Amino acid sequence: MQNLLLSVLKRLKSPVSLVALFGALFICATAPTRVYAQPPQCDPASVLSYESCAKCHGSEVRVWKQTPHFKTFEQLARDPKASEICNNLGLRSVKRSDVCINCHFTLQTKGDRDKPISGISCESCHGAAADWLEVHNDYGGNTGTKETETEEHRDERLALSTAYGMRNTRDLYLIASSCYHCHTVPNEELVNVGGHNAGSMDFELVRWSQGQIRHNFLRSDGQENAVSGIERLRVMYVVGLIADLEFSTRATANATQKSTYGLAVANRAAKTATKLMQLQETIKVAEVEGVLAAFSKADLRTNNEEQLIAVADAIRQLGQEFAVNADGAELGLVDSFLPTPDQYK
Ligand code: HEC
Ligand code: HEC
Ligand code: HEC
Ligand code: HEC
Repeated sequence: MQNLLLSVLKRLKSPVSLVALFGALFICATAPTRVYAQPPQCDPASVLSYESCAKCHGSEVRVWKQTPHFKTFEQLARDPKASEICNNLGLRSVKRSDVCINCHFTLQTKGDRDKPISGISCESCHGAAADWLEVHNDYGGNTGTKETETEEHRDERLALSTAYGMRNTRDLYLIASSCYHCHTVPNEELVNVGGHNAGSMDFELVRWSQGQIRHNFLRSDGQENAVSGIERLRVMYVVGLIADLEFSTRATANATQKSTYGLAVANRAAKTATKLMQLQETIKVAEVEGVLAAFSKADLRTNNEEQLIAVADAIRQLGQEFAVNADGAELGLVDSFLPTPDQYK
């Protein structure tokens, strides 16, 4: 066991050879029809729409409307590349297929159908809100205010909102999961047949969340859209790498053929593991050690769904533990890995 672990970790140090290895292990197989992956926990039946946030989160909505997440709703159907992808897949149009809309749009149940109501919205990232809306801002009955709320009540409130399906900003792993689920594009047919890109390969959570999509007004009572503090960014950086590894391992689990998709997602997993290892040499965090050990068991080949999902689940467990336990104040060694503000996307 120990030897196997060491040898895989050694191989991981040179991603090129890992990819070669992966290539060699790839077994050509005829592809069974795959079910399209759904976005995480955004049940159209519980979606309220961004308009129900606007009353209290006007500034957040204004920022969001400037982002590609909002604009894709109008722009996707006009994008020649989108028509090309639809043609390749034999789909009539972007809005009338259930493939593109799951990732590019927000769906809401109207009557007996799920209809696209906007681009990627508040609820795509924070969770469908019907059950948590009333809970998430309840400072305590009619008289409670932000100022009078006890620390205890705040903890309970946020825990309760999570239980009702909110991906709130306290739990960085949950919110990171939203991003990586979409930005790994875990859909083999979409990539191999449709010609869609195989995900955002340079996606890194700090860089991608602190630029144009940032909407941190709450901390200053709406005065300022603040970049998160250094201690939070440190945790966010590590969480982002762990979540990337989880979701690229999940994406590899969907690979049935040795071609563009399978190679791209497996490559991503291997590269991310290498990055995480380099970080771990410096930071030496128990959960990260566990993540690397779990990943070292991953056999990155086609048609290996069961094993790779089990590895991804193990990574997820540790990532969540890290997000809960981590103290940014003690993670100063992460600083040299962080992107600089001019790199924020
Ligand atoms: C009636 C007013 C109101 C509405 C409507 C509302 N919010 Fe909030 N929201 C608040 C308040 C107040 C807070 C601050 C709570 C605190 O102090 O922790 C908050 C906090 C948040 C937070 C940050 C808390 C955290 O830890 O993640 C998020 C995210 C959020 N709201 C999302 C939404 C979304 C998405 C919608 C629409 C589906 C929405 N809110 C609708 C009042 C509202
Ligand atoms: C699993 C999520 C997912 C699905 C499903 C999906 N997309 Fe995308 N798409 C993305 C992401 C993420 C990006 C942004 C990638 C980047 O540039 O970093 C993107 C970008 C694009 C772009 C712009 C980039 C380019 O290549 O020019 C087009 C066009 C596009 N998608 C079309 C489609 C069409 C058409 C469908 C349906 C047939 C579809 N997408 C389904 C996630 C998805
Ligand atoms: C429901 C799917 C989905 C989720 C969730 C999601 N994204 Fe995206 N994101 C997309 C798609 C699709 C695009 C490309 C839109 C387009 O250009 O048509 C995109 C584009 C972006 C862009 C612009 C990229 C560019 O090249 O300019 C950034 C930045 C981004 N996402 C960051 C994030 C972050 C950070 C998160 C999580 C906090 C996240 N996204 C969650 C689907 C998603
Ligand atoms: C692409 C994913 C994504 C979308 C879309 C999105 N959020 Fe967020 N939201 C995040 C992330 C990630 C954070 C945490 C950022 C950080 O800590 O730097 C956050 C933080 C917040 C916060 C807390 C900010 C603070 O100061 O602590 C509120 C409130 C919020 N979002 C509300 C909304 C509302 C309302 C919408 C819709 C208009 C929305 N979000 C759309 C990902 C998203």
